[in-house]
Parts: sequence; C-alpha cells; structure tokens
Amino acid sequence: MLKKVFASAVFGVEASTITVEVNVDKGVGYHLVGLPDNAIKESNFRIAAALQNNGYRIPGKKIIINMSPADLRKEGSAYDLTLAIGILASTDQIKAEDLDKYLIMGELSLDGGLQPIKGALPIAVKAREEGFKGFILPAQNAKEAAIVDNLEVYGVENIKQVINFFDKGEPLEQTIINTREEFEKNLDFPEFDFSDVKGQEGIKRCMEIAAAGGHNIILIGPPGAGKTMLAKRLPSILPPMTLHEALETTKIHSVVGRVKDTGLMAQRPFRSPHHTISNVALVGGGSYPQPGEISLSHNGVLFLDELPEFKREVLEVMRQPLEDREVTISRAKFTVTYPSSFMLVASMNPSPSGFFNDPDAPITSSPAEMQRYMGKISGPLLDRIDIHIEVTPVPFDKLSDDRKGETSVDIRKRVTKAREVQTKRFEDSDSVHYNAQMNVKQIRKHCVLDDASKQLLKTAMERLNLSARAYDRILKVSRTIADLEGVNNINGAHISEAIQYRSLDRDGWLG
Ligand SMILES: Nc1ncnc2c1ncn2[C@@H]1O[C@H](COP(=O)(O)OP(=O)(O)OP(=O)(O)O)[C@@H](O)[C@H]1O
Ligand SMILES: [Mg+2]
Repeated sequence: MLKKVFASAVFGVEASTITVEVNVDKGVGYHLVGLPDNAIKESNFRIAAALQNNGYRIPGKKIIINMSPADLRKEGSAYDLTLAIGILASTDQIKAEDLDKYLIMGELSLDGGLQPIKGALPIAVKAREEGFKGFILPAQNAKEAAIVDNLEVYGVENIKQVINFFDKGEPLEQTIINTREEFEKNLDFPEFDFSDVKGQEGIKRCMEIAAAGGHNIILIGPPGAGKTMLAKRLPSILPPMTLHEALETTKIHSVVGRVKDTGLMAQRPFRSPHHTISNVALVGGGSYPQPGEISLSHNGVLFLDELPEFKREVLEVMRQPLEDREVTISRAKFTVTYPSSFMLVASMNPSPSGFFNDPDAPITSSPAEMQRYMGKISGPLLDRIDIHIEVTPVPFDKLSDDRKGETSVDIRKRVTKAREVQTKRFEDSDSVHYNAQMNVKQIRKHCVLDDASKQLLKTAMERLNLSARAYDRILKVSRTIADLEGVNNINGAHISEAIQYRSLDRDGWLG
C-alpha cells in the first residue's frame, strides 16, 4: 500500500516541503530514493531498532521510499520519524487518516526517543504557508516552532506518543506561545548592563555614539582594561529589536539548531568567535551550507577580540559581507544567501606585548614587532571601522566605588532617539538606514560644515597627520554626535569630538 507523509528541508533560511512516499509490496528489500544523503540512508537501522523496542517492526517486504522533489538535497537524520510513521502506516500497523495534515520530523534514538532537529522555525513558517494543520517534532524544538501563529505545534518525547496519536487518537500536548507577549517580556532584560562598568565615562560615551550611528568600533587597551566587559554590553544599548528583526535572527539560530529556551530571541545577539576560527565558521559555508558567525550576529554585535591575532585571510573573507550585509554561498547546484547585518566591535592590545608608549610597562615591543602586529589589521578591514578608542584601566578608587552607573535602558533611550532621526533622514533609501552606512554622496549632502568647522577639521588633519580615509569617517561620526544632541547642523564641538576617535590614524601607530 502507498502512503504519504510530509517533512521539510531547509536551504539558507527558508524551508521547502518534502513529500515522503512509502510503498510496501510483496518481495524483500528496502530502497530509499530521491537524493537522500548518508545520514538518511543509515536511518533504517535506527528506525528498525526504535520500532522493535516499541512493539512494532519493519516487515520483511519490499519497501520503497521516495523523497520528493528528488532534485532537492536532503540531509541529516531529522527524517527518521517521518519515515518510521510512513512505514507503520503503509504496512497497516497504525491507522493513518490524518497523516497528510501534519508535518512530522525528528531524529530517533534506538529506544524510540527523539533528538532535536535543526531549522524548526523556518520549517514551521513554511508549514503554515502551505496550510498544514500541525507540526509534530521533538519537544526540545517545540517552543521555537510555536513562535509561528496558526499552526498547531506538538512537541513529543518519543515515537510511541506519535503512534498513539494517529492510531488511537490519544491527544498530544500542544505548545502555545503568545509570540508578541513573549517578545515584549524578553525585551528589556539585557544579560549584561552598562551600570556594572565603573568609571570609563569617556568610553561609555563613545560606545553610545557607535550604537547611535551603527558605527563599527575598535577598542585599544592593555590587558584587563575592560575591553571585553564593555563590548559585551553594546547590544544592550542598541535600539530594541523589532519583532521582525527578532524573527529574522531567531531563524538563523534555528538553522544551526541553537535556539535557547527563550524561544524567540528578543535580545540582540553578541557573538565572540575565537581568533583561531576558520573561514567557513566565520562567514558560513560547508558542503551542506550552514550560516557562520557573521550571520549568527545578524541584527547584533560581532566581537573580534584581539583582532591582530586573527589570520589575515579570515579577516579578508569578511570584507564583502560587511559591505553587502549578507553573504552568498555558491555550490555547483545551488546558491544560498544568509543575512549578515551586524555591528563590528574589535579589540586589540596596543602592541604585541600588551603595552604601548607606557614608561611603566613591564615589557615593551620593538618597532619591527609593532609594525608586523599593526600590519595585520591595517588596510581594508580597518577602513570599515569608524571609531578607534583607547581604553585605560580605571583607577582603584573608581573600581571600589559602590555606586551604580547609568543603566543600559537609559542610555538606549538616547540611542533610539538618534536612530529615529536617521530613519527619517534616509527614508527614501532602501539600503541606507543609519549614518555609518552613508555613501560619499550622502556624506556630502548630510554632513555640511560651516567655514569655521571646515577650518578646524583642516587644521586637525594637518597637525595630527590624519590620513585621507579618516576624513569621511570623522564627518559621519560628527553627524551622529549632532543627532544625539538633537541638532541639525554639525558644529565645531561635534567635529572635535569625532577627531578624538581616530587614534589609529595618528603618528606612531599606522603612521
Ligand atoms: N570599569 C570597570 N568596572 C568594573 N569592573 C571592571 C572594569 N574594568 C575592568 N573590570 C574588571 O576586570 C575584568 C577584566 O576586564 P576585561 O576582561 O574586560 O579586560 P580586557 O581589556 O578585555 O582584557 P584582555 O586584554 O586581557 O582581554 C572584568 O571582568 C571586570 O571584572
Ligand atoms: Mg578581553
């Protein structure tokens, strides 16, 4: 007898429905067709054991399973449950009237227990679009799938529950989430708060500016100065995520199977890959493409701690996605695109020994060592970083001060206000939404200086020996500082402040 069961395959961050046809006939054999990979081919062993351990079996007949569309690549073990239920239905071991109303997925353990799957959220989105009544999947993924409205989501622990549901009409427990409520509940509680950071008023101000204009930033300071601590708190002062952004970001995390218990991610992600990371792990890829760290940071912050320690080629592959805000991975038969719109925060020690221009430093580096160290980051990547700031450790009396600093929620209010000004400024543009994204034409239009400010900038550029590339960055950052103040015209004070944030352009470092 022929029976159909339904599952789904994920490409990029979208899913496609897969129809699994199971046909049982006289004879012997077990054939799986329709481009399944090795993990699926091995599934018959897991299915056989799981069925046997629950009082069912794969009968000694000729079983042909066809997964269509055949040209769509299907990977992984997430189809175990689909196939098992299909086999039971087509061999009349269970009743199967409603099979076509559900999407059924999950990896089986030998005892019939279920292991989580990847991509539950995009699969649920597609299932609703295609009019399925419900989605039956491993309990660990239920919350993530239940983000989708108008789809019944049933998280199950083992195959027995699914069998009893179809065969005996035993109800399954539905996972119901009020998506908007859940989202709003999670919005205001950042994991790390700026109020934990003592002193460092200047750096906090600088990070507020970076957040307000979406400027990439590099923190330069000796070990223990608090660079990592500060960077971790940046997501908490970025404007709150919109529900749309939260869904986008959760989808990407779902694809790699890493959605946390909270289900919908209402906090902007903070990703901090180690400097030994590979190209593929950073930008995404692999023979079955998976998103990389730059996509897991989508709508949040990517922190590259100890920037000069990263391999130069790894930093190079990041350049294009940084510009395009998405990354495209091409294979012979298909192409997938992952979004990758993130704020880059980098950190570095001032020299390979950790110190620079510091007479009290325990060790110092030779000029040649310095040059090699800086040479790794100079050039194209640094060109995309608007703000450089030196972080010096806070003195002991400030560290021991019990008073709490300003909270992230309060700082974020100012950032959000400045972002609203920018949203309005760029409302006619599809690709530019905040100051850091301005192209040359927009800089000329929106960063007009009066004669006095122009003169100030000219003098500073000459005196501090600032590079030409610094010029446009200073203008962009000045624009953001003016926006934070709520004024339309950029003045001398805005320019002077922005000039301070170009440490690496000055003599001594990049020269
Ligand atoms: N301003 C500060 N307020 C409160 N605690 C601080 C501050 N600065 C540093 N600390 C404490 O010092 C620890 C070390 O800071 P952190 O790891 O952020 O330094 P770092 O600059 O990243 O150092 P490294 O170069 O070694 O990575 C923090 O975990 C924190 O406990
Ligand atoms: Mg650190």
